[in-house]
Amino acid sequence: MGNNRLQIGDIKIEPPVFLAPMAGVTDYSFRILCKEQGAGVVYSEFVSAHGIIRENRKTLNMIRFESSERPIGIQIFGDSPKVMAEAAHYVVEKFTPDILDINFGCPVPKVTRKGAGSAALRNLDLMEAIAAAVVAAIPGTPVTVKMRAGWDSNSIVVPEAGVRLEKAGVKAITLHPRTTRQTYRKRADWSLIKLLKEAVSIPVIGNGDIVHPQDALRMFVETGCDAVMIGRAALGNPWFFRDVIALLQGKPLPPPPSLEGKISTCQHHLELLIESHGEKTGVNLMRKHFGWYLKGFPGAAAIRKKLVTATNPDIIREELNFLKHVPQHEPPPVSRPA
Ligand SMILES: Cc1cc2nc3c(=O)[nH]c(=O)nc-3n(C[C@H](O)[C@H](O)[C@H](O)COP(=O)(O)O)c2cc1C
Repeated sequence: MGNNRLQIGDIKIEPPVFLAPMAGVTDYSFRILCKEQGAGVVYSEFVSAHGIIRENRKTLNMIRFESSERPIGIQIFGDSPKVMAEAAHYVVEKFTPDILDINFGCPVPKVTRKGAGSAALRNLDLMEAIAAAVVAAIPGTPVTVKMRAGWDSNSIVVPEAGVRLEKAGVKAITLHPRTTRQTYRKRADWSLIKLLKEAVSIPVIGNGDIVHPQDALRMFVETGCDAVMIGRAALGNPWFFRDVIALLQGKPLPPPPSLEGKISTCQHHLELLIESHGEKTGVNLMRKHFGWYLKGFPGAAAIRKKLVTATNPDIIREELNFLKHVPQHEPPPVSRPA
């Protein structure tokens, strides 16, 4: 199922299961964990083209990646062909990612008000001009696009936008088939992925509402897409990649991770975050991940509360170590004995 020989430009991709770009989530630490579970391609969070060309230190830090993450896509967003082209050139020169992705999907007003992200869905000439400028600026690197289906239900731009993007030289398109106005309401309309697939000859990556590993298989069958992209289902669950890949290979679903396995992953995630952001920010960033990882077992809420209120990484480390060694048939105690 899927295209086993998926290629984006010259980049060979296997398996056709991608980690979605997610702001505040898919930094280096989380991408590494998803890669370890088999993700075929990982993407950075969206990065501001203006921030890149101004060489903003925080912005450039978001682009950092390790060679073990390849193939990796760096996603940029912006409102002007010139700035987007300059930013793409800068990223490719300094960081040499495998793929440069353009964000035409972000529905957040702070971004769209400035004409960036999914604002381009209201102006296909601008969308095409941005794509063509970026393609021309980085001839040796495949350019991909991630987009929504249109600004609102009266202005669906699929498949026309796809045809224009292919003509502009884009090498693959990811479609999250909701409109900007819809944000995350109602279900993603997978029939639009099929429509896009039938209209273009470049690879189409389907995205949206893959909640169970079986949904990924269903998306391949129902839409004919070349790859699937997983977002929210991977939060606190990088094993989701392992599960989808097992099903794609015709194997049974692996058993779910044990509590001990989840805690080991939390420990690994925390150390990667501290390594890349320092102790204070690393601990802050880890809070939301604890909320996603540690649920669904007796005493989970109390443990999460304890971990998200701790500021000292050593206390968190001790707490995780202790929790790891509690026998699993017992509800873990809220605190360690004195
Ligand atoms: C926390 C969060 C941050 C996101 N940030 C981005 C982003 O930076 N760039 C982007 O193209 N999409 C972003 N998205 C959208 C996802 O990539 C994806 O298209 C969407 O969540 C639908 O896929 P899913 O149903 O598998 O989650 C974000 C989604 C979430 C939940």
